Amino acid sequence: MPPPIVVTTAFEARAACTAARNEGQRVGLVPTMGALHDGHVALVREAARHADFVVCSIFVNPTQFGPHEDLARYPRDLEGDVRKLEGVAVVFAPQVTAMYPVGDETRVDVGRLAEHLCGPFRPGHFAGVATVVTKLFAVVGPCTAVFGEKDFQQLAIVRRVATDLLLPVNVVGHPIVREADGLAMSSRNAYLTPVDRPKALALSRGLFEARRAFDDGERRAGVLRALVHTLVARVASSVDYVTVADAEALVPLADDATVTTRVVIAVACRVGTTRLLDNIVLA
Ligand code: PAF
Repeated sequence: MPPPIVVTTAFEARAACTAARNEGQRVGLVPTMGALHDGHVALVREAARHADFVVCSIFVNPTQFGPHEDLARYPRDLEGDVRKLEGVAVVFAPQVTAMYPVGDETRVDVGRLAEHLCGPFRPGHFAGVATVVTKLFAVVGPCTAVFGEKDFQQLAIVRRVATDLLLPVNVVGHPIVREADGLAMSSRNAYLTPVDRPKALALSRGLFEARRAFDDGERRAGVLRALVHTLVARVASSVDYVTVADAEALVPLADDATVTTRVVIAVACRVGTTRLLDNIVLA
């Protein structure tokens, strides 16, 4: 397999995808912000199951970061990332001005799916994600795009955007890829100190405990939530939320509710200074 071609303009990326489609190839897209790990590699493999020509975008999107978030220190290593992208035909690695032209002011407004979970804690974040993903879909054109389920709310919003804006994109979710000890893979895990790293296991342990309880018949939302919250609260420097929510609408269940539909238990917390997410779907 030849190494991927790296392009930096929308024009080049679009031309490469159009040429591939004109040759009868199916195009796949894996949108990323770089700092690639095995979770991203799994997304690329998934894309290759749906496509003959896989594009990976690497772009740290400024509009999805709040003013006090980690945009400036977000890990960047384009060369190292490209080496990990075996089987990818094109890496699209634009500069900010290539994605947000001078005078840029258009945003994709997301609806109710952004009202809960991370939405209130990261105002504007999902509009930023929806905007950049819409731009990537516009550049790449008809394709299958693969997103990780660790960002469960992001995936739900991207599906909604593709449907609502009639975009010619088949959005595919890929299960969370975990380290051997259960920690969900994330570029932000690189921020965890040696002291924080073992503490971060509380998220997956709590979620797995909730799954065991659910499999044993527990249906009280508050009990399932508490199983996760208890473990997470012990180690986290702050907990944004531990929520049991309907897996489609992402509306939280009250603690006294009974689980009757497919639900997601989602967690966001800080371990040390690192914000971590994890979730599990119960059906
Ligand atoms: O999940 C991510 O890495 C980002 O939110 C995405 C989808 C690449 C948009 O910037």
